[in-house]
Formats: sequence, structure tokens, C-alpha cells
Amino acid sequence: MCELYSPVDRRADLRRRVTRWYARAGRDLPWRRTTDPYAVLVSEIMLQQTQVARVLPAYTAFLEHFPTLAALAAAPFGEVLRAWGGLGYPRRARDLHATARAHPRTLPATRDELDTLAGIGRYTAGAVTCFAYGHDEAFADVNIARVLGRVERGDSIPLRQAEALDAQLLPRGNSARWHHALMDLGATVCTARAPRCGECPLNGMCRARAAGVAPSRPRKRAAFATSDRRVRGSILAMLREAPSGLTAAALRGHLQDVRVPRLITALVTEGLVQRVGRLVTLPI
Ligand code: ADE
Repeated sequence: MCELYSPVDRRADLRRRVTRWYARAGRDLPWRRTTDPYAVLVSEIMLQQTQVARVLPAYTAFLEHFPTLAALAAAPFGEVLRAWGGLGYPRRARDLHATARAHPRTLPATRDELDTLAGIGRYTAGAVTCFAYGHDEAFADVNIARVLGRVERGDSIPLRQAEALDAQLLPRGNSARWHHALMDLGATVCTARAPRCGECPLNGMCRARAAGVAPSRPRKRAAFATSDRRVRGSILAMLREAPSGLTAAALRGHLQDVRVPRLITALVTEGLVQRVGRLVTLPI
């Protein structure tokens, strides 16, 4: 493609287009109205594997139940698991609770320290330091990697490469908005399979569009893993409804699935359920 402007102008143009679009079309999400590191962490943990629409009610309810790190740290784990509700991937609740117990007053304030905590990887640590502490921290999730990859490199790029690209592009002093904007563009316009290029503020400068690159198909999750996860979710949902517990045989009978005993054993090992005599219960 013949480019009529210098790399520096191009970057400035990219930032301007992204920021203007966000002012007009960005999503107003509750975790964007706070800089409380705890609330931001809760949102990022929930958003790791769950779509925004499902996180919205869970986030509000969870923070009403546990408004501070100290409140979360003081709660028994069973209560935290119940409040996590049907959000899935309950290891996230276990790890979040462990973080609150380890840091009941304030969370660590650097990316490297956050990165050492269970359930918090490089991406989440970067997002929390950016959104809560306002640091100009570069990071990328799949949405950011798709948007930056397409516009600058002609196709989605791996997360590490996207983070390096983000480090070159992010507007210093305004990086929270920048990242929110890229996430929104990736979630609502520059989607994986059916991008709406006609609505995209970057369409005039997008190298994927110029090259006519077809959207890459996201890989499907392994069907087996997905269905194991579904049965685990059903076991936890039944136990939430049965505070005094159920036998493994009853769970297996209700769910009509031979994997139930094996999955109960795994859940016990992970500390997400416990055995009390013959009964299986949520942790106290
Ligand atoms: N996914 C991860 N973090 C997010 C955020 N802050 N807003 C929207 N989607 C997200």
C-alpha cells in the first residue's frame, strides 16, 4: 500500500481516530467509572472468561456483597463461591479470595507484584495498573491484538507482539481510555468473524482492509473440555441449591452423566467443593 504520511503522523492519526470514536461510541461500563483497584480487579477477573453482558449483573451483585478487599477477606470461601453464582470458572473466585486474604488492606501497586498472584497473569496485572493507577502500561487481550494487528500489521497478531505494538502506540497520560476504546472496537466493530468495516473509524488506514485479508477463524475450544466445564458448572449449581449437601450418587443421578464422580474428585482437589461424610457440599 502506498502511504502518504510518515509513521509519526500515522500514529497520531490512529490515536486521534480511536479516541474520537470512543468519545462517541464507547460503552459506559460500571468498572470504567471507578479507579478502586479492588473493584477494577474484580471486573478484570470476571471478564477474563466471561462476556460483558453476563459480567454486568454479577459484578454489581458481587461488589454489593463484598464492597472492599477487607470484606472479601473476612468472608468464608463458601459465601464467596455462592456470590460468584453461575458465572463459571469458579477457580477465579477461589484465587480472588486468596488474593484478598493475602492483601486485605491494599492490593500490590505494581504490575510485577500483581503478576505473581494466583489467577492474575500479565494481561490482568497490566490492565489493573493501567485502569486503577493510571499507569501507561502496555497490554493486549485478544480484542486489542485483533484491532492493532489488523490496522498495523494486516492481520491479528499474537498477544506478546500486540503488547509490544501497544507500547509504541498508546497515548501517554491517556492510556486507560485508549485501552477501553480498543477493547470496544474489537468487541463491537472489528469482530473476529464479521467485522463491520463500514462503521470502523480506522477503515481508511487499515492494512488488513487494504490487503483484503479475510477474517481469521477463531479456533474452537475443545468440545470435551467445554462439556466437562458444563458438568462442573451443573454440579456447583446443584450444590448452591442444596446447602446441606448431596451424595455423589444423587448428583450423578440428577445429572445423568458418568463423569460426575471424577469431576467431583477434581473439584475437591481444587478446593471448590468438600466431602463431609457421604455428602458433597460447597465449602463452608
Ligand atoms: N474485557 C476485559 N477488560 C475489559 C474492560 N475493562 N471493558 C470491557 N471489556 C473488557
